[in-house]
Amino acid sequence: MIELAPSILSADFARLAEQVRSAAEGGASVIHVDIMDGHFVPNLTIGPPVVKSLRRATDLPLDCHLMIEDADQFIPMFAEAGADWMSVHQEACRHLDRTLHLVKSHDCQAGVVINPATPVESLSEVLDIVDYVLVMSVNPGFGAQEFIPNSLHKIRRLAEIRARRGLNYRIEVDGGVALDTVAEVVRAGAEILVAGNAVFGHGDPKDNARKLLKAATEATLQKV
Ligand code: DX5
Ligand code: ZN
Repeated sequence: MIELAPSILSADFARLAEQVRSAAEGGASVIHVDIMDGHFVPNLTIGPPVVKSLRRATDLPLDCHLMIEDADQFIPMFAEAGADWMSVHQEACRHLDRTLHLVKSHDCQAGVVINPATPVESLSEVLDIVDYVLVMSVNPGFGAQEFIPNSLHKIRRLAEIRARRGLNYRIEVDGGVALDTVAEVVRAGAEILVAGNAVFGHGDPKDNARKLLKAATEATLQKV
């Protein structure tokens, strides 16, 4: 039920295939790929060619988190490169409903993302069309930032709204998820855990992934 989605942002890009394999051996079941354009966020990362190479390196679903302006222009290219899931920011999409349908038209799971300052309520009209909602628990752009505790209320609210409206989106959280924060994130209701620094920042990705998943699973058992 809980899935770990290591973010390759903190991986060694010269050894991506090996690092992703190691995280998968530790129980990771989704690979989170951060796409940044230097406009929507103050950092630049990768584009479709790297997604295409990753596609050949793993069978796990590729979760492309698009932190870019004009997502409509690039969604077909990421789909063609092998993305399985694609999420777009509420703050970056002028026609959010259209963009989410564009993702679905490429047979990808469609996710919507909200920044720390964006309320859950701003998603009320798209919650019935998304496959997942991604709550940013840091301001997007960089790995290894500190977890923002206010995101816990947003995760809880999304779980409540889902139950009340009978919807079935999944809840993903991204930013500062590590051994010291994972339990509260899971208890709040997050089901897909993105972790960059905690998996790839130091040590062995396999061990790191295994420990994080273990802590997450234990927290589910304590969930009230
Ligand atoms: C931040 C990215 C995250 C980032 C998380 O903009 O969206 O996916 O890699 O990194 P950690 O887990 O190190 O906070
Ligand atoms: Zn991300």
